Amino acid sequence: MAVLPVITGQDHPVLRGQAKVVAKVTKEIQKLIRDMHDTVRSEEGAGLAAPQVGRSERVCLALITGRMTPLINPVISWKSAEMETAEEGCLSLPGIVVAVPRAVAISVKYLDAKGKPQERKLRGFDARVVQHEVDHLEGVLIVDYQTIG
Ligand code: NI
Repeated sequence: MAVLPVITGQDHPVLRGQAKVVAKVTKEIQKLIRDMHDTVRSEEGAGLAAPQVGRSERVCLALITGRMTPLINPVISWKSAEMETAEEGCLSLPGIVVAVPRAVAISVKYLDAKGKPQERKLRGFDARVVQHEVDHLEGVLIVDYQTIG
């Protein structure tokens, strides 16, 4: 069990950078996933992206149908035109809640923890969490959706 410190603050460079594609799913990446799993469980989060633990790599965990699921190199290949706005928080922005519009349904392609390609169609909360985590890999945070005024 290794709970990693979660980086906070909306201007932290690692949270604002574009994360690097994982070239190969190594044992080291699998260890990162295990540690991130321990971390998100201990923080009671719905998801966690590697930049939040200081690793600028395209790895995240997202709660999908109640299971904390690792996604490596996730790509959202389709988004529904239908959008829905709901409040989101983020482990990196304690105390901040933002109403974020997201696509109601998505398709996401990714590698699983064994490096095997997967594709899933998700709706509702599951789709929202994955969109939030993929945003992290692009350096996008929920505060970026805050409307002015
Ligand atoms: Ni977040």
